[in-house]
Amino acid sequence: MEQALYHPEHGYYSSGRASIGRKGDYFTNVSVGPLFGQLLAAQFAEIWERLGKIDNFTIVEQGAHDGEFARDVLSALRGKSPKLFSTLRYSIIEPFPVLQGRQAQALQEFGDRVQWGRSLDELEPFAGVHFSNELLDAMPIDLRGKRVDLENDNFVLVDWPDSEAVTNRAALEWIDHLAAKLERGFVVAVDYGFARSEFREVLQVREQHRTLDSPFEQIGEADITAHINWTSVAERAEAHGLSVNGFTDQHHFLTGIISEFPALIEGEKGKRALQMLLHPEMLGRAFQVMALNKDVDPTCPLAGFKFARNPRAAVDI
Ligand SMILES: C[S@@+](CC[C@H](N)C(=O)[O-])C[C@H]1O[C@@H](n2cnc3c(N)ncnc32)[C@H](O)[C@@H]1O
Repeated sequence: MEQALYHPEHGYYSSGRASIGRKGDYFTNVSVGPLFGQLLAAQFAEIWERLGKIDNFTIVEQGAHDGEFARDVLSALRGKSPKLFSTLRYSIIEPFPVLQGRQAQALQEFGDRVQWGRSLDELEPFAGVHFSNELLDAMPIDLRGKRVDLENDNFVLVDWPDSEAVTNRAALEWIDHLAAKLERGFVVAVDYGFARSEFREVLQVREQHRTLDSPFEQIGEADITAHINWTSVAERAEAHGLSVNGFTDQHHFLTGIISEFPALIEGEKGKRALQMLLHPEMLGRAFQVMALNKDVDPTCPLAGFKFARNPRAAVDI
């Protein structure tokens, strides 16, 4: 998975070959249109208010791909929250030069408000919010009890009993690093996976809106994702002093935001996009949203978690 997605020359993402949206390999919330970014911008503005309208508020995005989400958020904040926009910094963590180039082009109009780093290590400690959409599912995993091997010049999975293997080591190391950088504020992650009681390993291979049978088909040409174990990420976050602020599915999360900010849904296009994001058989149930927080008053839930259950119970801790 690491090589297929991130080999410097041949990787699906690192080569710049990855294509998201109608003409690409798969849809994401972001590729549905600007509404997703507009809704999240409203959530970020509420977080800024919760933090006391600080003048060093930073939005950190990881997995920004071609910069579409960042553009949607910054445009929405410029129009609807000019005070926040005037002090905001938008930091993108992007390891791949080809993607950073595309992001810079898409975000030209926002000038030096947008900054880049290649990894979380390059990020200054910050107050604000770290956001990701489908970042964690793109992190390489170890399939429990299996290894990749070669058989007659073909890749195959072979049994490999290893009691030490940690399936989602990359995701756990990610939260270790991020917790150390977040001084005050939130981590909001949108992704698909399971809480522990329902967890099962799901590896998905997608190309041109088809699901392929094996990760060894179309290596470097297809996307590979693994459903994430939310509980293990939440527990690791708690071990670093973060609290689980909210956990719910995308349907409830976005419904909560819209109930606080109903004017965000405009026109027929907006309604169609909303249906795609909310509908349980489209993206509404497939995705979950987890928010972690540090050094904020947890008693008053964010708009997105207005209709959510107790967060620790929901995430199975
Ligand atoms: C499934 S795509 C999602 C793209 C975008 N967020 C969206 O929703 O359309 C996953 C993205 O995460 C990026 N990615 C993976 N590991 C990363 C890391 N450690 N730091 C930053 N980006 C990473 C990939 O390069 C890819 O652009």
